[in-house]
Amino acid sequence: MKKPIRVAVTGAAGNIGYALVFRLASGEVFGPDQPVHLNLIEIPPALPALDGVEMELDDCAFSTLAGVTKVDSDHLEDGFADCNWVLCVGSIPRGKGMERGDLIRVNGPIFTNTGKAIQAASADDVRIVVVGNPCNTNCLIAMNNAPDIPRDRWYAMTMLDQNRAKTQLAQKSGQGVSAVKRMAIWGNHSATQFPDFSTATINGKPAPEVIGDDAWFKDEFIPVVQKRGAAVIQARGASSAASAANAALDTVKAANSKTADGDFFSAAVCSDGSYGVDEGLIFGYPLISDGTTWKIEQGIEHDEFAQQKIEATLNELREERDTVKDLLA
Ligand code: NAD
Ligand code: LMR
Repeated sequence: MKKPIRVAVTGAAGNIGYALVFRLASGEVFGPDQPVHLNLIEIPPALPALDGVEMELDDCAFSTLAGVTKVDSDHLEDGFADCNWVLCVGSIPRGKGMERGDLIRVNGPIFTNTGKAIQAASADDVRIVVVGNPCNTNCLIAMNNAPDIPRDRWYAMTMLDQNRAKTQLAQKSGQGVSAVKRMAIWGNHSATQFPDFSTATINGKPAPEVIGDDAWFKDEFIPVVQKRGAAVIQARGASSAASAANAALDTVKAANSKTADGDFFSAAVCSDGSYGVDEGLIFGYPLISDGTTWKIEQGIEHDEFAQQKIEATLNELREERDTVKDLLA
């Protein structure tokens, strides 16, 4: 029997948590012969609901589920003890009419203790995916409160944006989603993000050539992807949950496997200064994984339009960083 991979999920009884933990337990992410132990973390008022989640996990009788440990968020070090993966979902979602950045002083403070506890208690090979919004800056806060954890272990989620963008391109071109590759999301998981159609390919051909309609990319594709989260909130009355959980699992899978030749995947990671971004900011980039660590895809040339978009999202992240500078240890 292989040693179980231990995965912590904060906010495990919330909407995303509920769409996430069953798929983690099922063997879908780490494989059918790899046991998984789940550390499920919630605030005290949500612990009864978490009991219900555990009952349902039991009732699925997943052969890959090695065990469940439920932890109250007042004891975060117990929650992250020996974890190989930490999925930081627990936080407040925005409501109608809000931007994700409006949550910064509400959710930001959660991530100071999160960073400290991950550093104190997690396994040596821990990797962390921050989903709770504003995810880039929450990740920045946690990372800065965990200086001993190598910086390549931190990811904030832009995979949902990548998946949204791929579907828009697939639908516009009449192709299947798997025909779309090299879809990069630059910058912040916010309305300033830059979904860069110029690198995307459809069946191996440049997306701009296949679609042949520059105005569509600029006037429809970019705003649709940038504002998709708000559109879902408007329609559903609650923020994306199943698609967000799916994207979190896609991020773990992408980080944990070798990226196919010629392709890349999107996540926000600690910038090394690539593409003129301030070193240390959590910035969305196209990445290539070797299954353990990643490299930023280099050599992409940005025209003036793309440069302006990247500058706008970079400036927003600089402002967010300034807003939380008291939380960066
Ligand atoms: P939700 O309110 O349904 O669930 C959040 C859960 O977190 C709740 O059960 C709550 O009790 C718990 N929680 C709150 N504070 C906590 C803490 N300090 N420690 C542990 N648990 C805590 O919300 P949701 O729909 O699951 O969304 C969660 C977060 O994910 C929100 O911030 C949302 O904006 C964000 N989100 C991000 C993306 C992305 O692409 N990055 C996509 C969708 C949602
Ligand atoms: C999303 O992109 O759906 C999430 O970040 C939730 C939100 O607030 O938009």
